[in-house]
Amino acid sequence: MGTDGSAWIVSRTARAPSNIAVIKYWGKRDEDLILPLNSSISVTLDPNDLSATTTVSTSPDFDADRLWLNDKEVSLSSHRYVSCLKELRDRATDVKDEKTGIVITKEDWKHLKLHIVSKNNFPTAAGLASSAAGFACLVFTVAQLMGIKESFPGELSTIARRGSGSACRSLHGGFVKWEMGKRDDGKDSIAVPLAEHHEWDDLRIVICVVSSRQKEVSSTSGMQESVQTSPLLHYRAKEVVPKRITEMEEALSKRDFSSFAKLTCADSNQFHATCLDTSPPIFYMNDTSRRIIGLVERWNKSEGSPQAAYTFDAGPNAVIFVPQKSGGALLHRLLYEFPPPEGMNLSSYVVGSTELLEALGIDK
Ligand code: ADP
Ligand code: DP6
Ligand code: CO
Repeated sequence: MGTDGSAWIVSRTARAPSNIAVIKYWGKRDEDLILPLNSSISVTLDPNDLSATTTVSTSPDFDADRLWLNDKEVSLSSHRYVSCLKELRDRATDVKDEKTGIVITKEDWKHLKLHIVSKNNFPTAAGLASSAAGFACLVFTVAQLMGIKESFPGELSTIARRGSGSACRSLHGGFVKWEMGKRDDGKDSIAVPLAEHHEWDDLRIVICVVSSRQKEVSSTSGMQESVQTSPLLHYRAKEVVPKRITEMEEALSKRDFSSFAKLTCADSNQFHATCLDTSPPIFYMNDTSRRIIGLVERWNKSEGSPQAAYTFDAGPNAVIFVPQKSGGALLHRLLYEFPPPEGMNLSSYVVGSTELLEALGIDK
């Protein structure tokens, strides 16, 4: 009860961006703790573009933990939600809500229930890392509500990782490495920031939404099947990725676009080859995805050096990296190959910054 005897409600809201891997995570060595077979590197996107927004509330009137995702109630019974919430409750502290003056003690958090309302501003389960934005946001918002401070750097990322592996990387901006770690308890399997994005401020990211349909094979079950059946996956995790991680860190620290582009495209292609090497094979890309690869490859070949780099997560949607000076040329090529459907105007087909629209001659 509140200080005046009335029932109360205390809430927090936060937003977390999605991230796209340039050196991919695909395969776990521990399914429960979500420990990966290899380290990975990603770039966190601008939350104005792709993000989850989550409000978490608590009240003595609530009788169960509940989640509404994109306006529909979904079950919280999955092991992933259960372990994230348990890890957070274990770390809850005494807090005083500034707005209401309500004091909630460490002991209270053990019994108080949470209502979680989350919305993604981009397609869910379509290969644009909604699980990353979603779980990073959930963990961050609950941690704010419960007054949780990290007891070691990266602690919150170890909790987000329990929701979805890729989520640990969304707790930082810019380029982020998820260290696979060596320990069995996962305490060293954390996300660490690499170069800040603004330090590579002439790099632009173009997202081509090829399909917003939910994928048929979730990332979780896809990678389980690959671990069980793909020899390429094990070779990749052991022999290929460790070298690529070092090379990618070097390319990022030097702002070497050419090496960055070669590594990014090669790693996306090997990840999708691993999916094809899985039995039964998994096809995340479609014909449109392959046409985008063709477009970038032809452009890079005709110029004699990388002008752009593509990558595809577990879905058909393309993420293209391009130096600012080549951004306009990339957009013109994309629009020539994929003109807007009849009747749709360019400004609703291409959505983005003023800079991007100006490159196309669109006035906003
Ligand atoms: P994606 O490629 O979008 O990451 P995944 O198959 O990895 O697809 O994960 C999709 C799942 O992530 C959803 O079915 C849901 O369980 C969870 N998820 C997505 N968005 C959120 C969110 N905002 N809050 C909580 N969970 C979310
Ligand atoms: C292809 O993190 O969605 O996007 O840990 O099972 O939730 P779970 O899987 P998820 O897998 C992401 C796979 C990827 C590559 C990456 O983000 O590194
Ligand atoms: Co995901």
